[in-house]
Amino acid sequence: MKILITGGAGFIGSNLADRLVELGHKVSIIDNLSAGNLKNLTKIKKKIKFYKLDISKYSVKLKKAFTGIECVYHFAGLADIVPSIKNPDKYFNSNVTGTLNVLKSIDKKSIKKLIYSASASCYGLPKKFPIKENSNIDTQYPYALTKFLGEKLIMHWEKVYNLPSVSLRFFNVYGPRSRTSGAYGAVFGVFLAQKLSDKPLTIVGNGKQTRDFIHVYDLVSALILSIKKTKNGEIYNLGGGKEVSVNKIAKIIGGKKIFIFLKFIISFFNFFKFINFLIFSNFIFCSLLNSFE
Ligand SMILES: NC(=O)c1ccc[n+]([C@@H]2O[C@H](COP(=O)([O-])OP(=O)(O)OC[C@H]3O[C@@H](n4cnc5c(N)ncnc54)[C@H](O)[C@@H]3O)[C@@H](O)[C@H]2O)c1
Repeated sequence: MKILITGGAGFIGSNLADRLVELGHKVSIIDNLSAGNLKNLTKIKKKIKFYKLDISKYSVKLKKAFTGIECVYHFAGLADIVPSIKNPDKYFNSNVTGTLNVLKSIDKKSIKKLIYSASASCYGLPKKFPIKENSNIDTQYPYALTKFLGEKLIMHWEKVYNLPSVSLRFFNVYGPRSRTSGAYGAVFGVFLAQKLSDKPLTIVGNGKQTRDFIHVYDLVSALILSIKKTKNGEIYNLGGGKEVSVNKIAKIIGGKKIFIFLKFIISFFNFFKFINFLIFSNFIFCSLLNSFE
């Protein structure tokens, strides 16, 4: 199959690209390398087409990259929560205008599936668990809002223009190539970076807050299955289905810990409190092979 991954030089996209190439698909990648890195593509660089393009700018080159593409995984976008509060327009350009440009560029003659990387941050601080796809939407940060607006665009194009699309709302993804830079990255990446540089692990709050994690290899399996196993126009939560406390992650990684009690950041961490939901609602197809230990 001819598959294009936007944001394919990033954490999730590059792991997916590796697997798709292994399976014999023809893979193209669009990335502006703002957060991604060509090093992530070293293994497959001779087997893929790479376009250094910014999806927030519509261009002939962008449109051309989509010619003949049968499946699009749309992952390009800005991905951290706290910096989005400082730079809402930057996030809007990449995550909303960028998504619109992807929709405008898709080759309607060849496309069979568009898969959007939505975010479970759209649920805000949910009161009811497990979180279902029809749970209340409460976008609390520009990141969450822009990812949700991107999803709305995808669903609108599915309905109005019959573009075969699904939206997958990822919870916390961890594993090789996860971003380790930035104090506000994913907890796993931040802890690993601290451990590697012999710094204490910074736990915000008392560390009892829990989150749902999914290993990127399991996510990749689900992403590949989703080409055939999902229904167009539907939205699916995608995570590990188990709650794990931040203290437990710190214990697994090991070393000194520092507890930080900052009100604002505490609410950010609590946002993932006990996320226990069904993977693909109707399809519980992975017993999630990769455990933390
Ligand atoms: N990692 C998670 O836990 C998680 C959870 C929920 C949703 N998501 C979503 O999944 C997608 C992939 O996440 P990731 O963790 O791999 O992030 P990432 O930052 O590693 O990858 C995103 C990629 O998009 C590229 N990019 C950003 N803006 C772009 C633009 N305007 N034009 C072209 N390329 C651009 C970056 O260079 C990067 O390579 C993101 O859209 C993110 O919002 C991730």
